[in-house]
Amino acid sequence: MKIAMVGSGYVGLVSGACFADFGHDVVCIDKDESKIERLRAGVMPIYEPGLAELVAANVKAGRLSFSTDLASSIEGAQAIFIAVGTPSRRGDGHADLTYVYAVAQELAANITTPTVVVTKSTVPVGTGDEVERIIRESGTEVQFAVVSNPEFLREGAAIGDFKRPDRIVIGAEEEWARGVMREVYRPLFLNRAPILFTSRRSSELIKYAANAFLATKITFINEMADLCEKVGGDVQDVARGIGLDNRIGSKFLHAGPGYGGSCFPKDTLALLKTAEDYGSPVRLVEAVVKVNDSRKRAMGRKVIEALGGDARGKRVALLGLTFKPNTDDMRDAPSIAIVQTLLDAGAEVVAYDPEGMEAAAAIMPEVKMVSSTYAAVEGADAVALVTEWDAFRALDFARVKGLMNAPVLVDLRNVYDPAEARSAGFAYSSVGRV
Ligand code: UDX
Repeated sequence: MKIAMVGSGYVGLVSGACFADFGHDVVCIDKDESKIERLRAGVMPIYEPGLAELVAANVKAGRLSFSTDLASSIEGAQAIFIAVGTPSRRGDGHADLTYVYAVAQELAANITTPTVVVTKSTVPVGTGDEVERIIRESGTEVQFAVVSNPEFLREGAAIGDFKRPDRIVIGAEEEWARGVMREVYRPLFLNRAPILFTSRRSSELIKYAANAFLATKITFINEMADLCEKVGGDVQDVARGIGLDNRIGSKFLHAGPGYGGSCFPKDTLALLKTAEDYGSPVRLVEAVVKVNDSRKRAMGRKVIEALGGDARGKRVALLGLTFKPNTDDMRDAPSIAIVQTLLDAGAEVVAYDPEGMEAAAAIMPEVKMVSSTYAAVEGADAVALVTEWDAFRALDFARVKGLMNAPVLVDLRNVYDPAEARSAGFAYSSVGRV
């Protein structure tokens, strides 16, 4: 089956490479010529474990190619995916659908054979209707259907998530389009992955509801962590104690510095906008957004507290900058607010991140980036572990302590056992544990 993927960013590239690996004939399209050139040369625009190898293998097998020319690339494709960005619109938090609609217009002018247009980009309820209207009003006589098929890929684990999904959601109104989508996901059908067919609008909402729910779960445990610190509890015990209840589940109950990334912050805001537009407020999610926003700076204050309440002239080493490990993505990373809080308080900030420093340097030019953990901690008055990269999970405590100016460790990801860190001589604080 021939599949065209319009947009070769994170989602488009991972999905395109995985579809090719399923045996489909896939072309990934992007307007960015240098990106396509680099992809042809095997250079990935993003860091994602296993992606470069998957792309190389499928290019070699002749199932995956890259192009900047939409019109010729979509010829004969039975499914055309729209996987372009839907950033937050400046000013109001609405998802910016400019790119999605531009693709719809281009498709309308260029489809020549029956095709299913699939929105993979995260789009607000009703976007599929608009895409359909754009194509229909172009006057095309070619048979087409517009389907919603949201992605649930976690950065750093995207290929595994694609190939072994918890579920696949397909919002389609026409039976023939469902048939095409069954064919697209055939290998997963054979593996009995749960595939849920819904209306297009339900499918669009499922994506936002899932992300808002997960953001709520994280925010809930983060507030429990704050309470634990006050009452003398241990948030990890609390998380385990509630998570063992199957109705709650143990995942996404790790307390930390707040959620970041390319999805949760943007999607929760967009959901609020949709809810507002339809006069059906989701107050719970409103609270989640506010709590998470203020949490990030609060984590900076936590570091200042560990310094004895005054950060002026002190040197703080941050270990990890990306919003989570195994990615180079800095979008809405808690580290950004933490750095700002520390700088505002007069601290000097040094940082090391295994993959994120290039992107981070552009966002936080005042931070001195160094090339290793031990270079970062040298002469520091406090170390804050911000992102739980594996490289930070087995620090040589004696060496770190020996290099630091004062042995203060703020573990914002609860990586270490408090007793162990303290017996190694650290003034240790973490999240939701005393
Ligand atoms: C998320 C969704 O998981 C994915 O299904 C969706 O398609 C895109 O958004 P991603 O943003 O890659 O994926 O990261 P995820 O692993 O979900 O983590 C999001 C944020 O929540 C990170 O900042 C992470 O550190 C934080 N988090 C996650 C916690 O603080 N605690 C947890 O228990 C889990």
